[in-house]
Amino acid sequence: MSSGKAEVSPRVEKLLASMTPAEKIGQLIQYFYFQLPESDVDSGLPERQTDLVEQALAAGRAGSLLFVTDPATSNRLQRQAVAGSAHGIPVLFGFDVIHGLRTIFPVPIALAASWNPELIEQAQTVAAREARAVGIHWAFAPMVDIARDPRWGRMIEGAGEDPFLAAAVAAAQVRGFQGSHLGADEHIIAGPKHFAGYGAAVGGRDYDEVDLSDQELWNTYLPPFQAAIDAGAGNIMSAYMDLNGVPATGNRWLLHDVLREGLGFEGFVVSDANSARDLETHHFAADLPDAGVRALNAGLDLEMTIVEPAYGHLDEALADGRVDLERIDASVRRLLAVKEALGLLDNPFVDEDAARVTLADPAHRDAAREAAEGSAVLLRNEGDLLPLAATSVQKLAVIGPLADSKRDTLGPWIFDYDLEETVTVLDGIRSHLEQPTVEVTYAAGVPAFARKYPSMFDMWGDGSRADENADAEAELANAVRTATEADVAVVVIGERQDMIGEHASRASLDLPGNQLALLQAVVATGTPTVVVLLSGRPLDLRWAQENVPAILQVWYPGTRGGEAVANLLFGQAVPGGKLPFSWPRTAGQIPMHYAHTRSHSPENQGRRYWDEESTPLYPFGHGLSYATFEYANPSVSAASVGRDESVTVGVDVTNTSGQDGVEVAQLYLHQRYGSSSRPVRLLKGFQRVPVAAGQTIRVEFTISPAERRYWSSATRDWVLDATVFDVWVGTNSEAELHTEFTVQR
Ligand code: GLC
Repeated sequence: MSSGKAEVSPRVEKLLASMTPAEKIGQLIQYFYFQLPESDVDSGLPERQTDLVEQALAAGRAGSLLFVTDPATSNRLQRQAVAGSAHGIPVLFGFDVIHGLRTIFPVPIALAASWNPELIEQAQTVAAREARAVGIHWAFAPMVDIARDPRWGRMIEGAGEDPFLAAAVAAAQVRGFQGSHLGADEHIIAGPKHFAGYGAAVGGRDYDEVDLSDQELWNTYLPPFQAAIDAGAGNIMSAYMDLNGVPATGNRWLLHDVLREGLGFEGFVVSDANSARDLETHHFAADLPDAGVRALNAGLDLEMTIVEPAYGHLDEALADGRVDLERIDASVRRLLAVKEALGLLDNPFVDEDAARVTLADPAHRDAAREAAEGSAVLLRNEGDLLPLAATSVQKLAVIGPLADSKRDTLGPWIFDYDLEETVTVLDGIRSHLEQPTVEVTYAAGVPAFARKYPSMFDMWGDGSRADENADAEAELANAVRTATEADVAVVVIGERQDMIGEHASRASLDLPGNQLALLQAVVATGTPTVVVLLSGRPLDLRWAQENVPAILQVWYPGTRGGEAVANLLFGQAVPGGKLPFSWPRTAGQIPMHYAHTRSHSPENQGRRYWDEESTPLYPFGHGLSYATFEYANPSVSAASVGRDESVTVGVDVTNTSGQDGVEVAQLYLHQRYGSSSRPVRLLKGFQRVPVAAGQTIRVEFTISPAERRYWSSATRDWVLDATVFDVWVGTNSEAELHTEFTVQR
């Protein structure tokens, strides 16, 4: 169990003691270093932002930089930093290494859908290796924000709605990024974010305020942060938004009482971009100097900023007593300790030749393909249309603009990727069916479609897109003709990569750009149709669920995504992913999550609306395979246990098919009575189990007091009730196989 603390050596203490207050304050400022293709002025940034940064480096007033991915630039700026610092202190380079750097892995929600901590750890190990090779020391990841409102675009960056799954994913990501310890070779600091509660933005509107009860914070939103901290995360990033009326970045209760005392975090805290300056924007701080004082006194160590820093005014605040030197020293000490742990005080430079070799490692691309295969979720497969038998297909139609878009195959939060090497779904199917007997045809079917309002990332250009001015009728007619002439149609639909992620909330879950009409026209031809979905949030699939036999969610599958999709469609890979969220039928049901309480009339839970079901289209934990599994013979190691004792639940899992497969067996608990009304079900165990065709294996879960403990608003403290627990084990959150046990007084 670690707490993210970098040990403070005598060398660091001596260095700290030799620094002036102005030098110390300089260490607490982190600048973006934007290298925009066009002049910064076009991008709305004042003057040339890079000049501002290089002036700060020369004056020893920058302790960290972000948005540098080129090793030569990293070395150049590092030389400037060392030269500008009176004690030769190098800068810490941080970056958004969210799902890969040069090798792009499936987006984080996809990795979570694998329910495979080992796969997730491996993905972030590769990402860390590439990042460290180019001079990046720290990832602003994992994003561990629980998301129960899919209108919020950043759900793609997290692990969904459930704290138990999200905690396992968070810990796996931290292990992947950091390795065995802070400063491990070819590893980087993990920076879980955004502390805390950001995913509960009202209306799913990114950046908007959050109001969360203490019980929601402690039982739902904080456990993934606790898991990341216990896994040793060296950094935490504070969130943008107001939490219960106080901006997270200036919230002493949050950043000190909760984070330091409640969760035991001992690493360093960075703000989100400009979120310290934003304390004035929120009308919380009186002005920029006040914003700096409020943030520092709340517990913020490092200010991330694009332009003039609020911390640039701390010199006066120190002089007039609004902040004290001891508080500044505490932050500087944490950052110097991290720099020493990473070896930067001895050698802060990178080997540019070695970086090129690491970035080109073919093993990384293979790992990305395997991660894409392990993340896909088979939502429907009526009549076992999948896997397709290449021998029975002479002509296969691939339809939809997303099928042929490299950028949309990669998803958001990508910067140092190689677009040309990216394998789209169309590319993957074509290369998979290379024998001449199978003809692969393609039709976009709809003109390229776009957001109503531009993405914040447009400054990097939106790359490959089909023609937005194409003739819609002609496109559709061509798609219908292409489907009619084919034995099978693979329709690739979803959202463009700029329709999901930061600043990408939306008010509906409809398929954008007339894609539903395209799908309906293709199905109307009578050609057997498979839907391949590229999305990072649930979309309205009600019509598809009724009319399309096979639906495969492949998320944004990354650099080798098309290869993975082809392997899944033709059976060289078997889908085994499970949904990390409940899939609403329509936006009107939001928020929709499985861990609700019984409340009044539980028998009518599915009919809470008179105009629509109030159940999800697909439940949390749902995911089919080409194999089929059955559960039987549940058992408990004891019918009754003491409060501090564990109980073991066992169950048989049988593969009733002729296809080997991997099943994610899930265990859910419900407490029948106690200090609070508890959710009808809570995930409290899962195991990925390979089961060969026709075989049965016994799976066991241990339920310790930790899985039964929760924070009660009745006692305003953590409780372990004496009560009766219902236990369900099965293939998703609607599992019916039941047993129970009692916890004695
Ligand atoms: C962004 C995001 C944060 C990211 C940071 C640096 O606005 O909120 O997740 O790490 O700024 O890019």
